Amino acid sequence: MDRYAVVGNPIAHSKSPLIHAAFARQTGEALSYEALLAPLDGFARAIAEFRAAGGRGANVTVPFKLEAFALADRHTARAQAAGAVNTLVFDADGIIGDNTDGAGLVRDLGVNLGCALAGSRILLLGAGGASRGVLLPLLAERPAALVIANRSADKATALAGRFAPQAAATQLRGGGFDALAGERFDLVINATAASLAGDVPPLPPGLYAEGALAYDMMYGPGRTPFLDTALADGAARVADGLGMLVEQAAESFALWRGVRPDSTPVLAELRRLIAAG
Ligand code: ATR
Repeated sequence: MDRYAVVGNPIAHSKSPLIHAAFARQTGEALSYEALLAPLDGFARAIAEFRAAGGRGANVTVPFKLEAFALADRHTARAQAAGAVNTLVFDADGIIGDNTDGAGLVRDLGVNLGCALAGSRILLLGAGGASRGVLLPLLAERPAALVIANRSADKATALAGRFAPQAAATQLRGGGFDALAGERFDLVINATAASLAGDVPPLPPGLYAEGALAYDMMYGPGRTPFLDTALADGAARVADGLGMLVEQAAESFALWRGVRPDSTPVLAELRRLIAAG
């Protein structure tokens, strides 16, 4: 059986083995997928050992996505743009690094949530790795405007500047939260780490256009504080990042196996499991 794994630290909480086992059952692909805990100073060694033991590829999660980028011999364009790698493919010529996070987000938004991105106005909150990781796939959908807003405004401005060459069809700019006053968006994506601390980014009121979707890359058993706040401030609908998690996995699976699994039943089952605690 072909072996795959997700490598991180911590890793016990990872839903990836469950998701990939469901994809394998559904598609009839003969593979195993395990969770591997790598020591904080031992990522490259863990990958080398897994590869030597017959591993065909791996997902990479916190805190190793930058090290995975450094480890890869070749990168896809979207991994290059993200500066981080969440999917490794081992072949005879070495290690290919890809990043399926942005594609997973775009697919969740477009296919699962029916959100039309072309011509829309998007607000992306945060200017760290999570934001950078999804920018190229978001811009490829040709929104009319994409504004990056961050607590440290200069980081958002710098990130927007970095992606300017890829933003031909899109007005792209960055700044602080205060500068958003008076603007309206069709889609607001929370890619900050604020939720980890139980915080919500301090946004001016009235940012949600009619029918707007608020999307949190985080997920949990209940609605995240960001989504609660968004509903109170006029978002028409909200979604958490569980769909993105399943879709980035589907994208990795398709890359490894050449078969795209049907994510719908897997997302529904995972949602049930998480709600049940
Ligand atoms: P990640 O890889 O998850 O994006 P990161 O690179 O550390 O992690 O970036 C964290 C992001 O969350 C940053 O945009 C950070 O804002 P700053 O650049 O101003 O630090 C944002 N963030 C973290 N805690 C926050 C909070 N309590 N309120 C608002 N933004 C927060």
